[in-house]
Amino acid sequence: MEALPIFSALFAAASVYLFWFYLLARKLTGPSVWPVVGSIPFLFSNRKQIHDWITNNLRATGGSATYQTCTLALPFLARRQGLFTVTCNPKNIEHILRTRFDNYPKGPTYQAAFHDLLGEGIFNSDGETWLTQRKTAALEFTTRTLRQAMARWVNRTIRNRLWFILDKAARDHIAVDLQDLLLRLTFDNICGLTFGKDPETLSPELPDNPFSKAFDNATEATLKRLLYPSFLWRIQKLFGLGAERQLEKSLEVVGDYMNDAVAARKLTPSDDLISRFMNKRDIDGNPFPSAVLQRIALNFVLAGRDTSSVALSWFFHLVMENPQIEEKIVAEISTVLKQTRGDDPRLWVKEPLVFDEADKLVYLKAALSETLRLYPSVPEDFKYVVNDDILPDGTFVPAGSTVTYSIYSVGRMKSIWGEDCMEFKPDRWISADGKFEPPKDGYKFVAFNAGPRTCLGKDLAYLQMKSVASAVLLRYRLSLVPGFRAQQKMSLTLFMKDGLQVYLHPRKLGGGPDQVTQAAATSA
Ligand code: HEM
Ligand SMILES: *[C@@H]1O[C@H](CO)[C@@H](O)[C@H](O)[C@H]1NC(C)=O
Ligand SMILES: *[C@@H]1O[C@H](CO)[C@@H](O)[C@H](O)[C@H]1NC(C)=O
Repeated sequence: MEALPIFSALFAAASVYLFWFYLLARKLTGPSVWPVVGSIPFLFSNRKQIHDWITNNLRATGGSATYQTCTLALPFLARRQGLFTVTCNPKNIEHILRTRFDNYPKGPTYQAAFHDLLGEGIFNSDGETWLTQRKTAALEFTTRTLRQAMARWVNRTIRNRLWFILDKAARDHIAVDLQDLLLRLTFDNICGLTFGKDPETLSPELPDNPFSKAFDNATEATLKRLLYPSFLWRIQKLFGLGAERQLEKSLEVVGDYMNDAVAARKLTPSDDLISRFMNKRDIDGNPFPSAVLQRIALNFVLAGRDTSSVALSWFFHLVMENPQIEEKIVAEISTVLKQTRGDDPRLWVKEPLVFDEADKLVYLKAALSETLRLYPSVPEDFKYVVNDDILPDGTFVPAGSTVTYSIYSVGRMKSIWGEDCMEFKPDRWISADGKFEPPKDGYKFVAFNAGPRTCLGKDLAYLQMKSVASAVLLRYRLSLVPGFRAQQKMSLTLFMKDGLQVYLHPRKLGGGPDQVTQAAATSA
């Protein structure tokens, strides 16, 4: 019976803690708080629309320009007192991403979780390790030759594979999962750009590719690590259980593939990123060893693979919902191609865009940015707090906690984007004299992040998205499969849960016959 007093003492201590927690959490601005379980039941019941739930909580703070932060009480889940701070206040975001950059690194939890997959690569490091890679990479990303390399990979996948697949689907009246096709396309592009090898996951048979599958598995297992307290995955890893066992197996497949890819580039260097890094030196002046080159490559593949395809999926969805805007987009592309290729619409759909054509598409760029405002590919992002700090709106963040900034909510706040913030209006990105004009306060639009760690691939992503958007919209009109509804997946990337199921209808340009029949006739 000796266990009883100990048990009672523990019970009493736990009750005191939980009561104290309740008192503390009750005062928070945020969703309702219940004793013991805090906001967890609300989080759970809203898990299928988590981003909208966060947005609603932030709106409920009054959504005034000075206060757009709320704290969720998540005992057992969140670190440091079970409090979880989320903000969408542009002033706070600027403070985190730029002003006090050094106080808000990715931090140890994130780095430990991603370490097996990404090592100390640019995406997963802080301080000096990050800065040297950032400088080296930033030089490469401004070169015209890298843009040309991207244009070449995009060009190849569109003319040889995407059009082939879509033409066939249009002719045979079969539905396609457009998101799946786009994910395959951008995966192929980023592999080509990074290590000069196109795995051709986008091809008519839609083959299973062991590398892409294993990479998906590894990413998913890695993200799972972030959802639960870290001792859980560490124990699983130690004993090789569950998701950790999957991760280990997937990492072997990924490692073998990257081994071959880097070895091949050492034999025949090209204009891909790895070949460029092969000519560089690390901090100590030595060339990067093969193992490091592989990790560098994986970091770029992770950063550049899903983001553009997810954005394009939401773009096509918004275009289907807004026919007048679709019309304006098609009209702009037609006007530009008429200037560069002449009056015959068949010539407009024969080749993907070249550089200069893509550069002229201002309204399309606005529509893509407007898509990212409403559906940012990375909807929530977070940073670690090194020292106690007070955010510009007065919120206290304790050292060792995590502060989340909701990129998704920034775009959906009336106090930030105006009364019409929920509407798809590309024109808000166009200045009076017809130029593309991002908001003056750069922290109102953070889909590409901002500050020293801003996305390196932004220009490449716009180039790629413009080419694909034009290649699809000039040839086809899209319609949703009847009964299909696009839904968000609960994930750190804003995927559509069941893909994007559409039918393609040949489009008639300039009053002539439809372009697919025409293209088929010319190639016959
Ligand atoms: C629509 C497309 C894209 C979006 C919305 C996007 C968004 C982002 C965001 C939000 C981050 C910050 C992530 C974080 O630190 O937590 C980021 C970082 C990064 N992105 Fe992108 N990205 C896109 C496309 C690309 C592409 C195509 C590439 C490569 C070719 C790329 C390369 C990178 C790299 C290297 C970083 C890490 C920068 C650093 O930590 O210093 N991105 N991107
Ligand atoms: C990926 O995960 C699935 C189950 O989620 C599993 O069946 C498959 O074997 C895994 N693939 C690899 C390459 O690890
Ligand atoms: C795309 O490829 C075709 C054939 O190789 C070429 O004629 C065309 O100029 C390329 N376009 C771009 C933008 O590279």
